[in-house]
Amino acid sequence: MDYTIFMKSRACLSTILALLLVVFAAVPSYASSETASAAPSALIGTISLVFILLLLFIAIVLFFWLRRNIFRPITKLNMAMLCITEGNFNHALEEDAKGEIGEIYQSYEDMRLRLKESAEDQIEVEKTNRELISNISHDLKTPITAIKGYVEGIIDGVADTPEKMDRYIRTIYNKTNDMDKLINELTFYTGIDTKRIPYNFHKIKLTDFFGDCVEEVGLELEAKNIHLDYSCFVSAETVIIADSEQLRRAVNNIIDNGVKYMDRSKEECKIEIRLLDEADSVKIEIEDNGRGIAAKDVGQIFERFFRTDSSRNSARGGSGIGLSVVKKIVEDHGGYIWASSRENEGTCIHVVFRKYSPTTEDSHFV
Ligand SMILES: Nc1ncnc2c1ncn2[C@@H]1O[C@H](COP(=O)(O)OP(=O)(O)OP(=O)(O)O)[C@@H](O)[C@H]1O
Ligand SMILES: [Mg+2]
Repeated sequence: MDYTIFMKSRACLSTILALLLVVFAAVPSYASSETASAAPSALIGTISLVFILLLLFIAIVLFFWLRRNIFRPITKLNMAMLCITEGNFNHALEEDAKGEIGEIYQSYEDMRLRLKESAEDQIEVEKTNRELISNISHDLKTPITAIKGYVEGIIDGVADTPEKMDRYIRTIYNKTNDMDKLINELTFYTGIDTKRIPYNFHKIKLTDFFGDCVEEVGLELEAKNIHLDYSCFVSAETVIIADSEQLRRAVNNIIDNGVKYMDRSKEECKIEIRLLDEADSVKIEIEDNGRGIAAKDVGQIFERFFRTDSSRNSARGGSGIGLSVVKKIVEDHGGYIWASSRENEGTCIHVVFRKYSPTTEDSHFV
């Protein structure tokens, strides 16, 4: 039982005992002073009176005690519960109540804070979903409007030469490709976001992985007149735990951006990949000398649908999903990612992964 309630009950009991003692002390002296015949009835009367007074006193004390320690806190709790049922999670019970009531208040507070948190999360999810739908509608509407326009042009006979017809059909084809890419990206994003795409983690030798990447991507970049520089400062034995397919997707997305946002007016367009050793971890830097990102935007480029071209009308821009996918993949691998950039000078994406160490990690990875 709680200490304060125990102390109060003890105080009540002591008062009752004291009163009883007074009564029993008074009775013999009273009896001796009266005549023998009148004594019994007077004595009974006095004892009854004292008992009635005593009972009254106990009832009053009990009433106030119950009101202060039980009824009031329960009424307060009831009011607080009513607030919760009405969806108001801001009614706190922060009183300094102790004992059982204090514990009930504490449980109420825990429940209230948890409900408040989940209600806030729910609002945030709803907001993100609304944003998602509005962005998808916008990004799908743009190519659909263009396709509609070109098809109408063909129907109305505006494309009256074979060259024009060819141009119209190519544009329609490119726009449908854009839509296809957007839908694929969104499907993938929701897949990893809701954990419907499971990762297939393995031990990966970092130098082998990037060696293959560079070989594959180098030719594509060369065809686009972009020079690829690869420097590796980690040992050939450096291993990380990763899903190579998803890691490749992340690296490709970063390189795609380097190409897409390249400043073609520069004498030499280049992308550099650097692997750096940092004791327990490895750092991968992918840097371009493209148009760069304004300081106010750098912190936001990993947000879903963020584009520095906020009007979303640039022919060059994508849908702003690429880097959010990269961030999700890196973080699901236990890594960190951030960007540094200078306008008109270039952008560098930094990724850090923990090295695999057979002594500290599970040996079930192959
Ligand atoms: N290397 C870069 N140089 C300059 N700006 C960049 C670079 N990488 C990203 N950005 C800016 O960050 C924004 C978000 O990039 P992200 O890859 O997420 O989307 P996106 O390239 O617009 O579209 P998506 O990749 O989905 O096709 C881009 O729109 C661009 O404005
Ligand atoms: Mg991109």
